[in-house]
Amino acid sequence: MISEQLLKKIQEKDALLAVIGMGYVGLPLAVEMAQAGFQVTGIDIDQEKMRMLNKGISYIQDISSDQVYDLVQKGFLQGTPDFSILKSVDCISICVPTPLRKTRDPDISFIINATNEVKNHLHSGQLIILESTSYPGTTEEIMLQQFEETGLKVGQDYFLCFSPERVDPGNTVYMTRNTPKIIGGITPACSELGRAFYECFIDTVIPVSSARAAEMVKLLENTFRSVNIGLVNEIALMCDRLEIDVWEVIEAAASKPFGFMPFYPGPGLGGHCIPIDPVFLSWKLKTLNYTARFIDLATEINTHMPHYVVSKVTLGLNRFKKAVNGSRILIMGVSYKRDIDDIRESPAIDIFRLLQAQGAVVSYTDPFVPILRIDGQEYTSIELTGKNIPEFDAVVITTDHTRFDLKQVVEQAQLIIDTRNATKKLGPKDTIIKI
Ligand SMILES: NC(=O)c1ccc[n+]([C@@H]2O[C@H](COP(=O)([O-])OP(=O)(O)OC[C@H]3O[C@@H](n4cnc5c(N)ncnc54)[C@H](O)[C@@H]3O)[C@@H](O)[C@H]2O)c1
Repeated sequence: MISEQLLKKIQEKDALLAVIGMGYVGLPLAVEMAQAGFQVTGIDIDQEKMRMLNKGISYIQDISSDQVYDLVQKGFLQGTPDFSILKSVDCISICVPTPLRKTRDPDISFIINATNEVKNHLHSGQLIILESTSYPGTTEEIMLQQFEETGLKVGQDYFLCFSPERVDPGNTVYMTRNTPKIIGGITPACSELGRAFYECFIDTVIPVSSARAAEMVKLLENTFRSVNIGLVNEIALMCDRLEIDVWEVIEAAASKPFGFMPFYPGPGLGGHCIPIDPVFLSWKLKTLNYTARFIDLATEINTHMPHYVVSKVTLGLNRFKKAVNGSRILIMGVSYKRDIDDIRESPAIDIFRLLQAQGAVVSYTDPFVPILRIDGQEYTSIELTGKNIPEFDAVVITTDHTRFDLKQVVEQAQLIIDTRNATKKLGPKDTIIKI
């Protein structure tokens, strides 16, 4: 049987693997597969990434160049922009982007393009796993439909699964290998093969009954985060009106050993997942005439946070009889979270734009993002010195990178708007305004 032959190839590590989309998700996954002893080809339309990969250079912070170089040298890993390699590959993981369009509808064009490439080379004995986050039904409605046009039968000739990627960039404890992996196949045979495949390089694999269920698992996880962050952001707005320190309240509530999990307020949501994934779910539900109320409300509150931060800047400057217009304002940290270089959907950029629109002269500092492009303009990260900190009318801490010397900033800044409680151990001071 075809499934037994493929299973044998996988278990003996004779299966040839391909990862389509070699970004934040694809490269760490390909490295894990190659380290397990498989021969892996990364396929990406970004030729520069593939050139770097083949030279043994990593372009993803969590993966070292040493790791990549070693695997490339030993022949376990290679990169190419050419999809024709798919004709000789046994297992394909798809990790292409799934952004939102300007209209905030899901943009699944990358999945469609990758699906067409796989379809062109689809043959009997292949296992295809979609890892890109998408709405429930994508694997069946987009991929299965296309593949069936080839005349090959899913679960018999080829095997199709969805397995959500859970990588948390910058997390040094949970990485690809030790983060449990969910897998759901179109048929039981697909699930079984998908499970056997991942068990070769992931410590814990958890099968669910269908690809749709696996798609929904990812959306539950990220909707859970979005809604809870939305809730705590609203608690922060309430505490502000009540003149209560929200950070103190959360810390005290977190002492409860059961039934409470702390979430923290901040300048808004960022990254390629939490601000976007719940919108995939609410979009899908709209097509079924259902309004996803929690998602909509959390999105509304979370997207308002940059405006709230700007209102705090205005308030702070007002104390010194200054206006935002003409003030020199420093944004500290433009990546969406601590100690990483990813600026996608970063609320710091919204705050940058909002302050600029009000006439502020905005600069930024971020050790992970030396150059920042916003609306066609290029900015360079400035280095903080004892001299230049007092020159800013206000400093906004948007990302609490551990490399920041906050002691120096607290000592020298005229005014600080701290959106992360990063100055917790250095305050309170009347020059610090926390959200
Ligand atoms: N970044 C995260 O933390 C994270 C975590 C979990 C899940 N995800 C999900 O994983 C998916 C990938 O995200 P990412 O952060 O790795 O994106 P990314 O932008 O870092 O990487 C995607 C790569 O795919 C390439 N690509 C685009 N179209 C292609 C095509 N047709 N064929 C081949 N390559 C193509 C791009 O050039 C890019 O290198 C998304 O669905 C995302 O929601 C991301």
